[in-house]
Amino acid sequence: MTGWTAADVPAQHGRTVLITGATSGLGAEATRVLAGAGARVVMACRDPDAGRAVAERIGGLTEVRRLDLADLSSVRAFAEALDGHVDVLINNAGVLAVPKGTTADGFERHIGTNHLGPFALTGLLVDQVRDRVVTVSSGLHVLGRIRADLNWERRPYQRWLAYGQSKLANLLFAYELQRRLAAAGRRTVSVAAHPGVTATEGQRRDRSLQGRIVAGGRAQSPQMGVLPLLYAAVAPGVRGGDYVGPDGPRHRNGYPTLVRSSRAARDPALAARLWERSEHLTGVRYAIGPG
Ligand SMILES: NC(=O)c1ccc[n+]([C@@H]2O[C@H](COP(=O)([O-])OP(=O)(O)OC[C@H]3O[C@@H](n4cnc5c(N)ncnc54)[C@H](OP(=O)(O)O)[C@@H]3O)[C@@H](O)[C@H]2O)c1
Repeated sequence: MTGWTAADVPAQHGRTVLITGATSGLGAEATRVLAGAGARVVMACRDPDAGRAVAERIGGLTEVRRLDLADLSSVRAFAEALDGHVDVLINNAGVLAVPKGTTADGFERHIGTNHLGPFALTGLLVDQVRDRVVTVSSGLHVLGRIRADLNWERRPYQRWLAYGQSKLANLLFAYELQRRLAAAGRRTVSVAAHPGVTATEGQRRDRSLQGRIVAGGRAQSPQMGVLPLLYAAVAPGVRGGDYVGPDGPRHRNGYPTLVRSSRAARDPALAARLWERSEHLTGVRYAIGPG
């Protein structure tokens, strides 16, 4: 797959892709490419006006809908209003190393927005997704530990570690979802991806020394960074449980390739415990039909 680019995206006419966080960065870029390839793209944005501005710039068949992943009532309203099937769901939206804060439901912002919101969204839509669920993680998942204190209430807050915890949760979720889809006999697959280090609003926000050290090196363009997400979403030959990232040094930039995740990310017992906890915290219980 070395050298795979946006020009290799197969025609998407007649297909629907749902992308969260389509207002900026990787989500906006993925929308541009997929709409350009003929997909109908449902842009799930917490700020619909910003989403519409992006949609106007991009053209193509797009539809902006409101979704705030940091508020489970918004996730439920979004899912209830979404009729019909989608071929691909891309769980892209996320916050990156933000100051301490809580979501509407009282979860720490990273775990709430980056994991629990997408967990609930995917669970509510799982029988409507025909082809793939793509979950966007990060190379920084290696910083993460899933703690009993998931919400950072009993330890000093460290934003990069909070981000790392949420990105580890993304991978545990993606792999566990794949196991459950396969067990239910579904053809829908769950795949993970990461964009290396990409110059986006989220990546630029932390200009602290710590932020620059953690992010490391020169950031690649969104046009390059989006390739692993696109590959995971539409390339033929992708298998459930694959994790796609850039092929350059330390997987920080380059073209899509299969990458490895940490030992913790591949721990099925940890994934099962996080799943149960996520169902409890969100109130969304997965009932995966044979589909
Ligand atoms: N850039 C990198 O180097 C890098 C590296 C590894 C992984 N990633 C991952 O890539 C994904 C996209 O990040 P990005 O770099 O493109 O950052 P970005 O430019 O900041 O985009 C993030 C998107 O998520 C949306 N979002 C944030 N909170 C939300 C909420 N509560 N509900 C709904 N949408 C919300 C944002 O909406 P607003 O416009 O309203 O803020 C924005 O559209 C994230 O999952 C991130 O962890 C990025």
